[in-house]
Amino acid sequence: MSKIKVVITGANGLLGQYLIRDMAKAGFEVFATSRGAGRLPDYEDVDYTYASIDIRDKEAVQQYLLTVKPAIIIHAAAMAQPDACELNKDECRDINITATENITGVAEKLGAHLIYVSTDFVFSGDNGPYREDDTPAPVNYYGESKLASEKIIQSSKTSWAIVRTVLVYGNILSGTRSNVVTWVKDNLEKGNHIKVVNDQVRTPTYVEDLSRGIVLIAQQNAKGIFNISGKEVFTPYEMAVQVADYFGLDKSLMEKVTADTFTQPARRPLKTGFIIDKAEKELGYKPVSFKEGIQKMFG
Ligand SMILES: NC(=O)c1ccc[n+]([C@@H]2O[C@H](COP(=O)([O-])OP(=O)(O)OC[C@H]3O[C@@H](n4cnc5c(N)ncnc54)[C@H](OP(=O)(O)O)[C@@H]3O)[C@@H](O)[C@H]2O)c1
Repeated sequence: MSKIKVVITGANGLLGQYLIRDMAKAGFEVFATSRGAGRLPDYEDVDYTYASIDIRDKEAVQQYLLTVKPAIIIHAAAMAQPDACELNKDECRDINITATENITGVAEKLGAHLIYVSTDFVFSGDNGPYREDDTPAPVNYYGESKLASEKIIQSSKTSWAIVRTVLVYGNILSGTRSNVVTWVKDNLEKGNHIKVVNDQVRTPTYVEDLSRGIVLIAQQNAKGIFNISGKEVFTPYEMAVQVADYFGLDKSLMEKVTADTFTQPARRPLKTGFIIDKAEKELGYKPVSFKEGIQKMFG
């Protein structure tokens, strides 16, 4: 029997590198795309083809999708740094909104199931943790752009799923990239004093859980919005304590501060995080604890 074809955008990214592996291992025929040259690791026993496409290139995207004819499109590519989006709104709009509009149009033509990766930053952060049907109200342009994309997809005629996630951590498989765990570990190991926010709330997400959640959605052809994140609600300071305890590092180097200590171009929502009951019940999604996530990164 021929395999189900899936196109994955954002293949070079933190999530993308795991998704390529996990979708291929789940038996899909994987077509990976990202902007730059392929930076995917040498996976063992993972078949995929790679194409370098800038998703702002409408013609190239259309031609590629209409040639491959995927049954599923997982759209994970994005300008994902809130400060960059705030400072370069035109570029952020082109990548995060206009390109989604284009991909959605082709998905409609193909009758493909479109799985879009979105964010907790669609919410204001006034009253998290959030459920899928809470009302979004972004406080920065990144959140606005991701919400605009969600709306384009929701009002399309193609079948769709929106996967919202929160503060993703894990080892990038190829290349280097810092995350909350490595930032704390590296600084404390060097004896650096660090200021860590203690009035924000998140449900940090281990990257392999997010990838597995998306595989479950693809396998089940699940539709609608799904919160796919960790289950534990932590402030960044509480996450840092877990990291320090795990590695036996000196917690006296950590100073609790409030988020308004830092001036950043993009405002951050204060209290987000997700309630994941729906994904647990409907998909069978089961994330690891934050401590287990650290163990998996360094075990
Ligand atoms: N990381 C988080 O904490 C987090 C939290 C909530 C939601 N999300 C969402 O999850 C998704 C994946 O995030 P991530 O952390 O894996 O992001 P990432 O590591 O920054 O990867 C995003 C990828 O998108 C690709 N991309 C950017 N602009 C592009 C363009 N114009 N054309 C084609 N590809 C382009 C980049 O490809 P190249 O590398 O080839 O340039 C990059 O590898 C994003 O949609 C993000 O909004 C992430």
